[in-house]
Amino acid sequence: MINKLPLLWWYLRHPALLPDLFHRVWSRLKFTRTDREALKREAVQWCAVRAVLTVAAIKQITGQNHVSSLDEIFSEHFAWAHRRITDSGQKMPGGGNLELIYYLAEYVQAHKAIETGVGAGWSSLAFLLSLSKREGSLLISTSMPYPGSSKIAESSIGCAVPSSLKKFWQLIEKPDRRALPVALKLLPSIDICHYDSDKSVEGRMWAYPRLWQALRPGGIFISDDIDDNLAFRDFSVSVKQQPVIIKSEGAMGMRYTGVLVKP
Ligand SMILES: C[S@@+](CC[C@H](N)C(=O)[O-])C[C@H]1O[C@@H](n2cnc3c(N)ncnc32)[C@H](O)[C@@H]1O
Repeated sequence: MINKLPLLWWYLRHPALLPDLFHRVWSRLKFTRTDREALKREAVQWCAVRAVLTVAAIKQITGQNHVSSLDEIFSEHFAWAHRRITDSGQKMPGGGNLELIYYLAEYVQAHKAIETGVGAGWSSLAFLLSLSKREGSLLISTSMPYPGSSKIAESSIGCAVPSSLKKFWQLIEKPDRRALPVALKLLPSIDICHYDSDKSVEGRMWAYPRLWQALRPGGIFISDDIDDNLAFRDFSVSVKQQPVIIKSEGAMGMRYTGVLVKP
């Protein structure tokens, strides 16, 4: 408990974010640590037997055979973003599966997109590199600062996004439950979305149906880190869609991303 005091102090200095603390505490209290670990094990197993690599998933969804790394295609943007993040001196959370985001946004020729959870802005950059090819496109990104982060990290949210792409971008710096209704009011119909913020079961089960409802037919729903719990599995069942599960090995070991295509 004593080691949670700095986090509590951080929330007290951000009173507008206190409802988020309440949701976090509630979701912790709802499941014991043993329950959470058991759910996580079941989720990992469910993902592992279904998962394919990014290239195979992109082929399965789009029919496209050739996938290059975004680092290669947009080397200047990526070199600049890496420098920005290094210069900020901050350890920022992220990045999602950037090739998946970019190629799927290209596949649906996305004009309107919403993502939750920004961190340094790698996923925002991947979206914007696609959306910026279509005049009048808009990505709305919603995110609060990482709880406990420093003032500099707070001001570095989305720092990987260069000013040349900002005319296609709106960042709403609020917790999901305040930001998402605003984003959905601005973009009631979307081509693609990416969920990468509150990873609790409650957070996902609150946001997933709202994003799904806004997706147009043929639109694409992507959720990161679906192996945290069974929320994505249960949501796929509730919308009666077969998900595509993608595995990627990173600093945190094997992680899984889920994709659903709206019929
Ligand atoms: C993993 S990072 C996002 C990384 C980003 N999507 C990328 O791929 O580069 C998760 C972000 O979600 C934010 N976040 C966590 N819980 C949130 C909540 N309840 N509401 C809004 N943002 C939240 C965190 O502060 C963090 O910036």
